[in-house]
Amino acid sequence: MADDRLNQRNWLQTVPELVVECAEEWDLQLGEPYPPGDAGYAQRVELPDGAPAVLKLIYPDRESTHEAAAIERLDGDGVVRLLEYDAERWAMLLERCEPGTPLSVAGGETALGVLIGLLPRIWKPAGPPFMPLADEAAWWVEYLPGQWASAGEPFERRLLDAALDALVTLPATQGEQVLLQQDLHGDNVLASQREPWLMIDPKPLVGEREFSVAPIVRSDELGSTRRDVLYRFDRLTSELGLDRDRARGWTIGQTIAWSCYTDHHVPHVETVRWLLDAR
Ligand SMILES: Nc1ncnc2c1ncn2[C@@H]1O[C@H](COP(=O)(O)OP(=O)(O)O)[C@@H](O)[C@H]1O
Ligand SMILES: [Mg+2]
Repeated sequence: MADDRLNQRNWLQTVPELVVECAEEWDLQLGEPYPPGDAGYAQRVELPDGAPAVLKLIYPDRESTHEAAAIERLDGDGVVRLLEYDAERWAMLLERCEPGTPLSVAGGETALGVLIGLLPRIWKPAGPPFMPLADEAAWWVEYLPGQWASAGEPFERRLLDAALDALVTLPATQGEQVLLQQDLHGDNVLASQREPWLMIDPKPLVGEREFSVAPIVRSDELGSTRRDVLYRFDRLTSELGLDRDRARGWTIGQTIAWSCYTDHHVPHVETVRWLLDAR
C-alpha cells in the first residue's frame, strides 16, 4: 500500500462539497456522519421516501478503484446493496446496516465463525474489471525492497525475504480465480437486519481462494496473541479446505506489503514472525 496519507488529507477537504452535490443528485436528507474510518467518508442519509441509507465517499486510491463494482457483483449476498453509484465523484449510496455494530465487538471466536461463513459467498468466479492478484503481487515485489530500506529497515531482513519469495513464486501456480476481498476484517462487517452480519468496504482482487485468509489472520482486533493468530490460521485453512503453505505465503506477503503505512504495523509484523516460525 503506497503512502497516500497526504493526498487523503487534501481529499478530505473536498468532502463537504461532494456531500452537498450527492445530496442534490439523489435528493437525500443528510443525517449524522459516522466516525471516520481508515480511508473513506460515510454519512447516514434518508432517501426521498424516508428509507435509511448511507452515503459513502470512497477515497480514490488504488485498492478502492473497484469497490462499487465488487458490491454490485456480490448483489446483496452477505454484503450491503449498492443503491446508486456516481463514478465521477467516487460516491455510493448504500443499504444501511442497523444497528451497524462492528463484528469485532462480537468476540474473536464468534467473529471468526461469521467470517468463515462469509468467504465462500464472496468467492464468485470473477475477471475484469477487478485487478488480478498476480499483478498486485508483482507491484508489491517491485516497491517493497526500496520501501523497506528507505523506512530504515523497520523489521528483520528474513521477513522481507519470506514475503518476496511468496509473492514471486505463488502467482504462477494459482488455483481457480475468484473474487477476493483483501481488507476483510472485523470492522468491515456490521450487524444488520436483512442478515445478522453484512460486509462493507471491499477492496477487491481476483485470485485464488488461499489469499483470502490474509486480512483475517492478521486482524488483531479478533485477538492479538501468538495463539490467537495461529488458531485463526488453523481454523480458516482447515474449515475452508485451503492449502496451508499457499495460505501462509499469501498472508506473509500481503501483510508485509501493507505493513509500512498502517497503525497496526507492530502486530502485523509480529503476525508474520509467528507464521514463519510455526512452519
Ligand atoms: N452501509 C453501512 N451501514 C452502516 N454503517 C456504515 C455503512 N457503511 C459505512 N458505515 C460506517 O462508516 C464507517 C466507515 O466506512 P467504511 O466503508 O468502512 O470506510 P473506510 O474506507 O473509511 O474504512 C464504518 O466503520 C461504519 O461505521
Ligand atoms: Mg472500513
